[in-house]
Amino acid sequence: MTILITGGAGFIGSHFVRQMCETYPNDRFVILDVMTYAASIDYLAPVQSQITLVRGDISDTELVGRVFSEWDVRRVVHFAAESHVDNSVSDPSLFVRTNVVGTQTLLEAARHRWMESPFVCRAGYESSRFVHVSTDEVFGTLGNEGVFNEDTPYAPNSPYSATKAGADFLVRSYFHTFGLPVVTTNCSNNYGPHQHDEKLIPTIIRSALNEHPIPIYGTGENIRDWLFVGDHCSGIHRVLTDGRLGQTYLIGTRNEWNNITIAQTICQILDIYRPRVDGKKYDELITFVSDRPGHDLRYAIDPSKIETELGWRPVTSFADGLRTTVEWYTDKYLYVTRS
Ligand SMILES: NC(=O)c1ccc[n+]([C@@H]2O[C@H](COP(=O)([O-])OP(=O)(O)OC[C@H]3O[C@@H](n4cnc5c(N)ncnc54)[C@H](O)[C@@H]3O)[C@@H](O)[C@H]2O)c1
Repeated sequence: MTILITGGAGFIGSHFVRQMCETYPNDRFVILDVMTYAASIDYLAPVQSQITLVRGDISDTELVGRVFSEWDVRRVVHFAAESHVDNSVSDPSLFVRTNVVGTQTLLEAARHRWMESPFVCRAGYESSRFVHVSTDEVFGTLGNEGVFNEDTPYAPNSPYSATKAGADFLVRSYFHTFGLPVVTTNCSNNYGPHQHDEKLIPTIIRSALNEHPIPIYGTGENIRDWLFVGDHCSGIHRVLTDGRLGQTYLIGTRNEWNNITIAQTICQILDIYRPRVDGKKYDELITFVSDRPGHDLRYAIDPSKIETELGWRPVTSFADGLRTTVEWYTDKYLYVTRS
């Protein structure tokens, strides 16, 4: 059965593709990815023989329809998105096109391919499934207390999170209006190898290794619930296999850290792993910069539903995940090629 993975050349998508190829070595996976600046095919080199990469835009109706029919797609895991909040502040319209129109284009193609009529699947398509990968940012910000769960009302604060919220609502509507077999996941901040350089953890590591100022927004007090990318992918796999249709699952690891602590911890790892030649500590490079407009203070997830219903558990401790990440980026930034 062909699985279509949109955005499979991006950060999380590429980890998911590799995990799926390892789990199902006899299967092939079709990736639909327009290959923006955030994409890189290098990380998929070890599984090249199991994948077909279609370079194209998820909002291209004709192309998406052709992909569904040519490969007889019956499962979709939808990662493709514009994902960087700062870029959504400078150019919101691209986020609307990809995140909202692109998601609706995929839903429509799935509906035409899989459904005879509302709530009636075409024969042979009964086990089709569309997993939509979203973010906890749709819930807005938390104060010092409380956590998000599946019943938290939506309150997006950035153009990025507003477009992801719009996509989530479209996915929901295709379930309630057409009976399309969909499941949505909302996860917390991911970290791990192969994330684009623009994101927080790669920026901290790169700046430190180059002995440049390490930029931290505001006073560094913004809190995120950090999820190792491999654990996130195993959660999506559980949802793809056994998630209940029309449901939402929040994925997080109860691992809250503020940005300044993340920066200090990475500096401490680098002090041991790659000490500065002049003997100074890396954390002397930490520099506070003007805060991002609309910067949410805190996100935190209660993952009880996916834990109890689907038996999902993260397996990577924060210490191990962060060390793996620092080592991978240190190799990358010191120009050692690895996949
Ligand atoms: N990274 C995180 O911490 C995080 C947290 C919560 C949710 N998410 C969600 O997970 C998904 C994947 O995030 P990521 O961090 O891997 O993002 P990413 O930016 O690293 O990758 C996105 C991928 O989508 C592709 N893409 C973008 N526009 C496209 C288009 N119009 N058509 C086809 N492909 C297109 C890009 O080329 C890229 O390969 C996104 O939907 C994002 O909203 C990410």
